Amino acid sequence: MTQRKILITSALPYANGPIHLGHMLEYIQTDIWSRFQKARGHQCYYVCADDAHGTPIMLKAQQLGITPEQMIAQTSQEHQADFAEFLIGFDNYHSTHSEENKQFASDIYTKLDQGGYIKRKTISQLFDPEKQMFLPDRFVKGDCPKCGALDQNGDSCDSCGATYSPTELKNPRSVVSGATPVLKDSEHYFFDLPAFEQMLKDWTRSGSLQDEMANKLQEWFTEGLQQWDISRDAPYFGFEIPGAPGKFFYVWLDAPIGYLASFKNYCDKTGVNFDQFWQKDSDAEIYHFIGKDIIYFHSLFWPAMLDGAGYRKPTSVYAHGFVTVNGAKMSKSRGTFIKARTYLEHLNPEYLRYYFASKLTSNITDLDLNLEDFAQKVNADLVGKVVNIASRCASFISKKFDGKLTADIAEPALLAEFTAAGETIAESFEKREFARAIREIMALADKANQYIDAKAPWVLAKNEATLTEAHLVCSMGINLFRVLMHYLKPVLPAMAKEVELFLNDELSWSTYQTALTNHSINVFKPLMQRVEMTKVEAMIEGSKENLQPTAAVAAPKAAETKAAPAAVSSDAAIEPIGETISIDDFAKLDLRVARIINAEHVEGADKLVKLQLDLGNEQRQVFAGIKSAYQPEQLIGRLTVMVANLAPRKMRFGMSEGMVMAAGPGGSDIFLLTPDDGATPGMRVK
Ligand code: MSP
Ligand code: ZN
Repeated sequence: MTQRKILITSALPYANGPIHLGHMLEYIQTDIWSRFQKARGHQCYYVCADDAHGTPIMLKAQQLGITPEQMIAQTSQEHQADFAEFLIGFDNYHSTHSEENKQFASDIYTKLDQGGYIKRKTISQLFDPEKQMFLPDRFVKGDCPKCGALDQNGDSCDSCGATYSPTELKNPRSVVSGATPVLKDSEHYFFDLPAFEQMLKDWTRSGSLQDEMANKLQEWFTEGLQQWDISRDAPYFGFEIPGAPGKFFYVWLDAPIGYLASFKNYCDKTGVNFDQFWQKDSDAEIYHFIGKDIIYFHSLFWPAMLDGAGYRKPTSVYAHGFVTVNGAKMSKSRGTFIKARTYLEHLNPEYLRYYFASKLTSNITDLDLNLEDFAQKVNADLVGKVVNIASRCASFISKKFDGKLTADIAEPALLAEFTAAGETIAESFEKREFARAIREIMALADKANQYIDAKAPWVLAKNEATLTEAHLVCSMGINLFRVLMHYLKPVLPAMAKEVELFLNDELSWSTYQTALTNHSINVFKPLMQRVEMTKVEAMIEGSKENLQPTAAVAAPKAAETKAAPAAVSSDAAIEPIGETISIDDFAKLDLRVARIINAEHVEGADKLVKLQLDLGNEQRQVFAGIKSAYQPEQLIGRLTVMVANLAPRKMRFGMSEGMVMAAGPGGSDIFLLTPDDGATPGMRVK
């Protein structure tokens, strides 16, 4: 087998939000593929970075009262900690806000400009006169120009589905300041995508794209390619365009260039030859793993930019579908918007790696994380089948045979069947048909268990006459287990490491064909615990709790509908006003003055305070996510306003019987509403 040179990337996560389980699908998919390629002995690198530029990041930092640099440094640390615990084995993790990226961005832009691929055109856009900034579409709201529905986004109407330009909105309003935007002219720079049409068509036909992606591209060609606006006016957090003071590269211009920057940063540290990978006639392979929402950027703009600037194009771009949880879009109010960190507080990362692998194919269909199925599958396959093989065989070998495997293989034909499957399994991994690989591996695990069941070594071991046979059977079982763990290692690297310690052996794709004979193994330790549903439930509860600080004032539904466009912070200092409600809806709220008669810390919850509220003729227990702003002792004796007719909710820490009202962006800026003295508990708030 010839050694291939392979560079692999995952999309660069935005630096203004935490990693969640939707993201994790991508990093797990890419990591399994990268570990597989490395195990096969190829020269393979896997790089990534934070995507650190753009308006949402700039505004969020402002709201937090810190510089964008401080914010992205903090986020980068959090992202990397999450990835490390999920065993994502990046060779390098960098940032688009880096020296290398600045260099590449300005170099590529300059080459494109010299090639005549940058056009300049004056356009008119909505401008926030208070904030003195141009407003991206999603920062303008107003009434739908088609149906008149109030408070719609700048690009489309939730009510009638119309799409339009933000300048068409009636009663437009800046989400940033609330001011009425005005139209203002400005010169913008455009990348001449249509000039690359023929090249892109040829690339599409080169055969290495997924069918679905090739079809999508075909549609775009039919619709006609458009000039792409790559400049933004100050204030903007990004790189200034060379020779154009006050103009910055749009975040999506320098984001994919971040792939080059991260790899260059790695090459400079290690001496790997960058040009060998990226020069025009390179024989290296380059793969970008991405989600289906960003195909346009990766299959049109990016190859065209590379081509226009004299680089080679990616070998392929591999898109995956979106994660749903329990059959629905991830939702903050249902607790299914699960952050990587929250998952890690409750569950073993390898459960998720296995579950995703068992469902991943090479196409872009969505993938459902059904939590019951998740627990069931991990328990049945990993604990019940794979680990079971070893745990049934290991103890006899340790106890009766001094930890030593037999010199002979009991059933060479059966072992040969296991090793022969290696190439088909490898092919499934290679083609990103992980689900198929897992099915093949589990079918073998079933066979191994059937073999052990049939031989019943625990019976053989009871009788002196059949003791040798018991030894042979158990050694055989261990060897079957060992072959399977070779195949599972890209999916379960931590468990594989435990197995290597147990077997005194190193597992790689080149070693599974030689069996372990006359070999000493170590005492078996349980390799994986069962998934407990109580932990899954605690994770869901924990995900609900994350919403508490900002949700205190918002009706639960409003909080859910605005999981916000992916890149907008959910805890903006001034949130846009939500959808309107009728007076009847309002009348349903029973708001009451309440006195806080006790307040205490909640063990195990870093955001919650447990409040005992007096409503005059009854008392309520309420958990409020206000601990970042108030010490419980400060609260005792104060009056506040509560939603008294909210359905009680069972939380991990007990029942919550209502909600107190507070305002603020979160953190230490949460302000509990406090009626003037003279109000008495139980009074209705009107
Ligand atoms: N910053 C851009 C990518 C720039 S790449 C040059 C971006 N960032 S993101 O944080 O929104 O998403 C990062 C990756 O995670 C994308 O590939 C995206 O498709 C993927 N996912 C985000 N949410 C997802 C799910 N719910 N399910 C599966 N993948 C998801 O886009
Ligand atoms: Zn409408």
